[in-house]
Amino acid sequence: MKILEKYDLKYLNTFAVSVRAKFFIQIESESELKELFTLPEFQQNKKIFLGSGSNVLFTKDFDGIVVLNKLKGIEILEDNSETVVIKCMSGEVWHDLVNFAVERGYWGIENLSFIPGTVGAAPMQNIGAYGAELKNVLESVESFEITTGKENKKRIFSKEECELGYRDSVFKNKFKDQYFIVSITLKLSKIEKKNISYKILQEYLEKNKIEVKNSKDVSEAVMAIRKSKLPDPNEIGNVGSFFKNIFVGKEKLKELLKIYPTMPHFEEGEGTSPQPSPYKGEGAIKIPSAWLIEQCGWKGKRIGRVGVHDRQALVIVNHGGATGEEIKNLAEQIITSVQDKFSLTLVPEVNIV
Ligand code: EPU
Repeated sequence: MKILEKYDLKYLNTFAVSVRAKFFIQIESESELKELFTLPEFQQNKKIFLGSGSNVLFTKDFDGIVVLNKLKGIEILEDNSETVVIKCMSGEVWHDLVNFAVERGYWGIENLSFIPGTVGAAPMQNIGAYGAELKNVLESVESFEITTGKENKKRIFSKEECELGYRDSVFKNKFKDQYFIVSITLKLSKIEKKNISYKILQEYLEKNKIEVKNSKDVSEAVMAIRKSKLPDPNEIGNVGSFFKNIFVGKEKLKELLKIYPTMPHFEEGEGTSPQPSPYKGEGAIKIPSAWLIEQCGWKGKRIGRVGVHDRQALVIVNHGGATGEEIKNLAEQIITSVQDKFSLTLVPEVNIV
């Protein structure tokens, strides 16, 4: 294990922002992870664990240690006629796990195909897309307490203890920066469990006359939709959705519809992700933030080196060479204009460092 200094993180974040980390180290096994906790550079500095860097915006040099997680391995723990339980190390690429599942005909994560990022990031924000969420299949999360790294501080979180919500978990709240996720365990189905009611997915399948016979068919459809709408980070820097969607209650919706009768809105089970409201007790009607941003004239707009994607207004892009500050400034302008026009507050989904 080698510690590098003043390390450029440009190729380790999908926004392709160039900032330097005071220290940088890569871990490839659990024994290296344990060794990491003994290093003074780790003990005495602020720390960030990075997977694919697909949900982070660096706005300045990082005055601490960046640990690149390369813990690999996928293992079947239980297998019966109906279900399989799979353990996957956190440094695996999420889509490789999806492929592992669909190649074997398992159901449960095919709608989550092609989501950028590593397996360790999945429970952090309860990844979700096309009517599915990690929450539906997660069994448990194995983690290390970050400050001590002691074996006796290893903790298994049950699904309930993860407190998974819409793009949210205990690891973003109560236990923020306190646990490093080592592996996750999922329960998938061997029996057909088609989940194709998400409007855009359903329309795509109908339009292309695809009859879903296995989970791979769904996976391929989701990949095709994603490719048509979302920019490839290898071609143009981005982190997928920059903001979360907005959820309101019935009363608020009524008020908004009086002024904006064409405003799209989706109730639970109405062709959108079955996401619980982040505003507890206020209802769970999704108003797509992409629509709000588009109405403010941002879709496809470019300001210098940054801009808003022309096919999905929730996505901010780095046209090349932008700094994290430039991206953050654009995000702030978008938040202000949506606030001024709709009195709704956009909340970034991305982790801003
Ligand atoms: N819409 C617009 N303008 C746009 C795009 C969308 O008005 O430019 C409106 C349309 O009314 C559309 C609705 O927004 O029907 C929903 O659009 P879409 O299904 O593309 O999904 P989203 O709500 O914008 C969420 C996730 C995506 C995920 C899709 C598909 C969040 C923050 N984002 O976006 O996740 O792929 O659903 O399930 O919840 C990501 O997290 O990086 C990501 C891409």
